[in-house]
Amino acid sequence: MNIVVLGPGAIGALWASHLKSSGHNVSLWGRSSTEQTVIQLDDSPEQSFPNQNAQALHEADLLLVTVKVWQVKSAFTPLLSSISKDCIIVFMHNGMGAVDELKAELSPFPVLLATTTHGALKTSSSKVSHTGKGATQIGPYNAQGARCEFITEVLNHSLPSVQWNSDIEKALWQKLAINCAINPLTAIEQCNNGQLAESRYQASLAAVIQEVTSVIQAEEITLSYDELHKTVAVVIEATKTNYSSMRQDIFYQRKSEIDFITGYLLKTAKRHHINTPENDKLYQAIKQIESSWINHD
Ligand SMILES: NC(=O)c1ccc[n+]([C@@H]2O[C@H](COP(=O)([O-])OP(=O)(O)OC[C@H]3O[C@@H](n4cnc5c(N)ncnc54)[C@H](OP(=O)(O)O)[C@@H]3O)[C@@H](O)[C@H]2O)c1
Repeated sequence: MNIVVLGPGAIGALWASHLKSSGHNVSLWGRSSTEQTVIQLDDSPEQSFPNQNAQALHEADLLLVTVKVWQVKSAFTPLLSSISKDCIIVFMHNGMGAVDELKAELSPFPVLLATTTHGALKTSSSKVSHTGKGATQIGPYNAQGARCEFITEVLNHSLPSVQWNSDIEKALWQKLAINCAINPLTAIEQCNNGQLAESRYQASLAAVIQEVTSVIQAEEITLSYDELHKTVAVVIEATKTNYSSMRQDIFYQRKSEIDFITGYLLKTAKRHHINTPENDKLYQAIKQIESSWINHD
């Protein structure tokens, strides 16, 4: 397939490298305007990719969007007029709501949403490390996307495991619940995920999950407090030595994804007239830290 990866950061470079290794014609669309970009995944040989190639974009069968959630609109909008109407667009990021902001513009295209638990880290401009093997779920955002289940096999062949989930909305809410519980708290406390298992954090975690459950159920998604609480505990244990992406963003004074994680929850809660004091508190704390920096980006 002709594939373009928009946003070849940690996750984008990981996918680009695997897709190219399985024989696809992969091109990148990064922020720099250099014609070629080199990626080296762990100890594999370096791979060279065309970058910002207008013809490759025009001929793309698949556009994989792996920018951070708050970058989706600004990165994707300038490319819209150059993408073929048959091109399958896959958005893979944490958080929710960014694709909805583009709903009208996306209506002609088959659109899919994906969520992954792979871990990747960019250690230099060309080097990327696959820090944790995970799994990816993908599912339809619109009716045209629902006809593109075959893409699961393409992606699974390159970087397993990839599973089709026709109810991707539910999977995204589940991921959002995990992110609402773990990300702001680890960022405020500047601790690793495992430290959230300590007793002093249990009341806050329980309150966050309770509020998230109320919002999820108001959205008519069948996830219970017990399921979500258990899932969060499992993730805290399984990733106990990891630092969450929000902890890292705050540590390095980079703009975090809070507006599309807890922020999305708060907006949805407001629509349903649900009180979310614990999530409000965490959201305000992160926003306050971010606003104390001179340069957000
Ligand atoms: N890394 C992980 O392990 C992991 C795991 C699961 C989910 N995720 C999620 O995946 C998403 C991507 O994360 P990441 O860690 O890969 O972030 P990242 O390393 O910051 O990658 C984002 C990339 O997009 C590029 N970009 C930003 N604006 C752009 C634009 N207008 N045009 C072209 N490229 C643009 C960035 O370029 P610059 O470098 O120039 O800013 C960067 O290379 C996030 O939502 C994250 O939460 C990440």
